[in-house]
Amino acid sequence: MYRCIIRSVCSGGRVCPALVSPYTQSPSWTLRITPEERHHRRPEHCWRCSVRSMSSAVRKRTSLRSAFPVLEQPLEPIHHRVYEANLQNSKACHNKYKEFSEKIRKGGGEKAIARHTQRHGKLLVRDRLRLLLDDEDFLELSPFAGLGLPYGDIPSAGCLTGIGRINGLWCVFIANDGTVKGGTAYPITVKKQLRAQEIAIQNRLPCVYLVDSGGAFLPLQSEIFPDKNQGGRTFYNEAIMSAMKIPQVAVVCGSCTAGGAYIPTMAEETVMVHQIGTIFLGGPPLVKAATGEEVTPEDLGGARLHAEVSGCVDHFAWEEKEALVYTRNIVSTFNFQLPEEEEEDEEKTRRRKAEEEPLYNSVELLGLAPKSSNYSLDVKMVVSRLTDGGRFQEFKARYGTTLITGFAKIHGHLVGIVANNGELSYQAALKGCHFVQLCDQRDIPLLFLQNTEPTVAITLSTTQADVNSNRLKAQGSMMSAVACASVPKITVVIGGCHGADSYAMCGRAFDPNFLFLWPNAKVSMAAPGHAGSLLPPDSEQEEEEERKLEDKLNRKLEEESSAFFSSGRLWDDGVILPQDTRKVLGNCLDIIKQQQYQVSTEKLQSPLLRI
Ligand code: COA
Repeated sequence: MYRCIIRSVCSGGRVCPALVSPYTQSPSWTLRITPEERHHRRPEHCWRCSVRSMSSAVRKRTSLRSAFPVLEQPLEPIHHRVYEANLQNSKACHNKYKEFSEKIRKGGGEKAIARHTQRHGKLLVRDRLRLLLDDEDFLELSPFAGLGLPYGDIPSAGCLTGIGRINGLWCVFIANDGTVKGGTAYPITVKKQLRAQEIAIQNRLPCVYLVDSGGAFLPLQSEIFPDKNQGGRTFYNEAIMSAMKIPQVAVVCGSCTAGGAYIPTMAEETVMVHQIGTIFLGGPPLVKAATGEEVTPEDLGGARLHAEVSGCVDHFAWEEKEALVYTRNIVSTFNFQLPEEEEEDEEKTRRRKAEEEPLYNSVELLGLAPKSSNYSLDVKMVVSRLTDGGRFQEFKARYGTTLITGFAKIHGHLVGIVANNGELSYQAALKGCHFVQLCDQRDIPLLFLQNTEPTVAITLSTTQADVNSNRLKAQGSMMSAVACASVPKITVVIGGCHGADSYAMCGRAFDPNFLFLWPNAKVSMAAPGHAGSLLPPDSEQEEEEERKLEDKLNRKLEEESSAFFSSGRLWDDGVILPQDTRKVLGNCLDIIKQQQYQVSTEKLQSPLLRI
């Protein structure tokens, strides 16, 4: 959508540049107008100015091209050994990825699926989403969350979350999977729901809840109920999101018991399905135990009762498909003004796409995804396979070369790229700090390609102490710059995520809008095999004992550092395949920009109160 605007400005279209976000203005446009001029200029003046500037569209396009030179980074024979080793490792990782994907597709298993569809007559969660969304463009978040946990495998953490489009509008979806223990909430389910809400808040995205849940998974109640970022936080967020004017709609397409009952009741607008949806704090068995009275779920908290008597819901649907149509209709009232898609003939589309595609095949990223820290090739090879036309305008190319910084476009979106190319030295961190502030100044989203060094810096001499303390100061500055940059940030861990370097490279604690891992990624304080750097030297201990301890720690690092271990615990927003990275980044950048199309954004003092 954004791409359309930029293109129509460049090619003599009819869009006023005043409507174009600061992210997308080309440097030549910004140079042409001083801040005073911009302040005093009326829209029609902007318009005339833009038409003048557009008359030289071809020249401008040429100059833009030369501003972003092509990164010539072909695969050479010298890369062959490392490339092949990485490729083999990527294939093994891909097999694991496929195995996990198949596992989560099965949800709670055959028996549970049969009960869900045949006995209860409900749609499966992925079918619900398919019916709700415009198309298959669905960015699923943390699909492997819940796998390999101490309390077992919880497929998709019992709840699908992701971002897809309804009537062209990107929305966050939080959809319980009723086949996984009746859709009950495990600690990881709560964490996943909260992360999806956080993404909705950070990117101001409308939120759709598909509720089908038996409430808390009772055996783990102590890990779900009491703390700040646990069950109650979901409802707190609903209120805060409403006050922030982030629209929320809920569809009751299953059980909403106990805590689950508050989700639809606090949403701004709710649809409920006859004979499938129920909302109550305690179900019929509880009524029977307390009063001895027999009551049907429908009479106690069915769609009729809540649409006609309690007013907890706003729309009554006879069946699920009807409820999903109502939901699409509701989303059309969220009052976003999306730009019109520009009509393009086939030839033009083909030419534009060909121009945008990176110079080299993205499949080559599989051989560039490092198997371990010793197998990293020049990160510019990765950059050239992700950016439009493989183009990149490098910043400070000759300074702190273990960090690569510069500007590029991804699916037409201008981004500032910060990529590890070795250790984050004093110079590299200073450069990173400078570049991050530069992007913040210019309102350019940041993309971090993280592949940090595995070892902890050891201080054995005063010279080393000097080097390390300088590095410490520079990394501290870079961390401050990253933490305080108000532009959107996306992090992709393409190799290692180790030690303090990973914080400066916008790790999870630094609040990136999105954080993804490649399947080969390793996440741990020190990389497997480098446990020695974590252990303090102990002269009292036998060498043999010391080695055993080190081996044990290395095995633990190996086991706990895999991308799937990390994603299972929801330390990221998902594992993505290297060859899909460009597409995922394009979607994320589109999603991040949508907020500027919301017509009504002024904050309310209070959330919408239903009754
Ligand atoms: N905590 C732990 N396990 C639960 C659970 C809960 N709150 N609710 C359901 N389960 C388990 C069931 O024991 C069953 O386990 P099994 O497959 O190992 O036998 C599984 O989830 C599916 O439950 P089942 O009742 O067979 O499925 P269903 O689709 O017919 O019904 C519910 C699902 C959620 C409507 C129903 O189980 C229910 O009403 N549960 C109680 C909900 C409740 O009172 N929650 C209060 C939480 S504070």
